[in-house]
Amino acid sequence: MSADIIDLRSDTVTKPSAAMRQAIFDAEVGDDMSGEDPTVNRLEKMVADLLGKEAAVYNCSGTQSNQMAVRAHCQQGDEILIDESGHIVNYEAGGAAALSGVSARLLHGKFGIFDVEDLEGKVRPDNQHYCVTRLVCVENTTNHGGGRAWPLAQMARVGNWAHEHGLKVHVDGARLFNAAIAQGYTVKDFARYADSISICFSKGLGCPMGSILVGDAGTIYRARRARKLFGGALRQAGMMAAAAIYALEHNVRRLQIDHDNAQTFARAIAQIDGIKIHVENVESNLVFFEVASDRGTSAQLSARLLERRVKINPSGPQRLRACTHLDVTKEDLLRAAEIVRDCMESGIAQANGSHLAGSAYASR
Ligand SMILES: Cc1ncc(COP(=O)(O)O)c(C=O)c1O
Repeated sequence: MSADIIDLRSDTVTKPSAAMRQAIFDAEVGDDMSGEDPTVNRLEKMVADLLGKEAAVYNCSGTQSNQMAVRAHCQQGDEILIDESGHIVNYEAGGAAALSGVSARLLHGKFGIFDVEDLEGKVRPDNQHYCVTRLVCVENTTNHGGGRAWPLAQMARVGNWAHEHGLKVHVDGARLFNAAIAQGYTVKDFARYADSISICFSKGLGCPMGSILVGDAGTIYRARRARKLFGGALRQAGMMAAAAIYALEHNVRRLQIDHDNAQTFARAIAQIDGIKIHVENVESNLVFFEVASDRGTSAQLSARLLERRVKINPSGPQRLRACTHLDVTKEDLLRAAEIVRDCMESGIAQANGSHLAGSAYASR
């Protein structure tokens, strides 16, 4: 069914299907804080097994899982190594500093993906002048890096290097299943090089909320304490865990459709005068493109599109991000591309993009 409004702002806008709502309704529940919610317990075991790790903890959000991981791996005053585009350091309200007293040293990778050369020399010497370098953070797929998936061999190099240098490795895998599908590896193959991995259920997997943090038993034990400390401990969360189980069983393989739709949209807008896009850089469900600066701004194009019932947010002064997901069809994407063409042909320079002020480049 085609949508009235074509909402390409994020895969977080997806609504639970009737079948997912039924799974939520049918869920057996208990007090998760006491380890008594059977559905949460089942989900945690299922994902830990899927990733080949000892334990998992179900959480409210991807931000919460990432910040619990930072807290579980680091002590106050420690430093993490992370790409400059990383979600953990840019879009989590300064959580690493505020919640864990941790600072970040930024790496300059390509599309948010870095390699051993970028890490060389970045571990602080053991000297009282320096903070302790503790953790390497990897994002897969990269969000602001461009929706790119880490090649497995590169993750192996980075993971092995980090471990040889006494560092831990956390993967922000908000869209890890998209990455696995794009690159043709299993999430277990990828997780082998990480000490902890967070995965979101509320994005391409189509759940109303939820994320999970996976790792060895000691890390997850410490992360559970951080979850309580950060105010995110749960009670009868089995209803939402049931949605996550449903998603793992029904919504993973179909992510390929979202990737195909992203390609369709990217190829269609590549033909439009005033739009700049490298189609070969589109690897998952995120399509980043630019408006030529002599034609207007990203906020102006976004405002014009909104008038035509297409929602695409700016992600920089000229840059926009369109995200495909399970609530938009190939036909919706082709229609959205036609509307981008109409807007560019009729001119966007007069549009008032100020409705986006303040939230313009927020990431989700
Ligand atoms: C790469 C990445 N990590 C983490 C998050 C945080 O997820 P949440 O919005 O559930 O806190 C997002 C959300 O946009 C994301 O894109």
